[in-house]
Amino acid sequence: MSVSDKEKANKAGPVLPQILQQRLLAWYDQNARPLPWRRDTNPYHVWISEIMLQQTGVEVVKAYYARFLEAFPTIEALAEADEQKVLKLWEGLGYYSRARNLMKTARIIDREYGGRFPDTYEEILRLPGVGTYTAGAIASICFNLPVPAVDGNVVRVVARIAGIDEEVTESVKKRMTASLKMVYPPDRCGDFTQSLMDLGAVVCIPNGAPKCPQCPAADICTANRDGSALSLPVKGRKQAKKQQELTVFLLCCGDNIALRRRESGGLLAGLWELPNVPGILNETGAAALAAQWGVKPRALIKALRRGHVFTHIRWDMLCYVIECASQPPSFTWVSREQLSDTFALPTAFKKLIDAT
Ligand code: ADE
Repeated sequence: MSVSDKEKANKAGPVLPQILQQRLLAWYDQNARPLPWRRDTNPYHVWISEIMLQQTGVEVVKAYYARFLEAFPTIEALAEADEQKVLKLWEGLGYYSRARNLMKTARIIDREYGGRFPDTYEEILRLPGVGTYTAGAIASICFNLPVPAVDGNVVRVVARIAGIDEEVTESVKKRMTASLKMVYPPDRCGDFTQSLMDLGAVVCIPNGAPKCPQCPAADICTANRDGSALSLPVKGRKQAKKQQELTVFLLCCGDNIALRRRESGGLLAGLWELPNVPGILNETGAAALAAQWGVKPRALIKALRRGHVFTHIRWDMLCYVIECASQPPSFTWVSREQLSDTFALPTAFKKLIDAT
């Protein structure tokens, strides 16, 4: 990019060629991924899929999406749903606040919009759990509004096509959004949004493997011309994850396992969990704590060490598997069958049970 091009880009956002529209739409017509949430543009369906896709990959979402819509086929059904049933259907997807926000939003739409999904970008953006990306996706796909949905994939596509070689900050993302807006095709906004997503997911991919020879925008792409695709986009430094040590108790009595509810705020709020305390306890410390809980250990079956990674934190868990002589009432004792049918247990704890 010349200096004057760069100055222009810095002020108004990068300039994207208008022909990007035709290139991407023609490519999308031939190459769109046949994803379940693309069968229609019902905003309820698209909204559920977009919330699931916020932190989870397409392949995993497919099965969850189908099960969720089977259980709750309409906004009204979700508005009236039992929270534990929704959380159970969410089990394994993680980031459970998404499921809680879905319920909140369904009730808002039911109550304040008479069950009709709002159809302006501003109203959609106001819904709990909906940020600019999700609002852009829903508004463009369902209501044909020219609002881009700019996630990591789309940032990569735009950074390479426009040759943006500065670190992608929030303000750079805003400028990218503004530039994309200017090349939206008025009659196919949703397809254009999803063509950018698919190009970023399938062709303009990260980690040293962009498939530039297959790209419909190769001849208008700055990075392809300059050979700079591998170094774009320029990412900021990732914050190191905090590490937290936990001692976890898998207390078994016959076929039953001891569970308790997590507190209503913070990580995994309100979900079920295996009893645990911060820090790593040795066997003596663990036995003393178990005694305080009223647990009468019959045998220490084993100790397991497992890790689990969340977005900002990594759990390092030491789990004592203890066979108990009784079922003290300080816990909820559930059979493995009940656990798999009704109780939503975060993956971090499930891992420990699966390892026994
Ligand atoms: N990721 C987020 N939204 C998506 C969509 N609609 N299609 C494919 N991948 C996505």
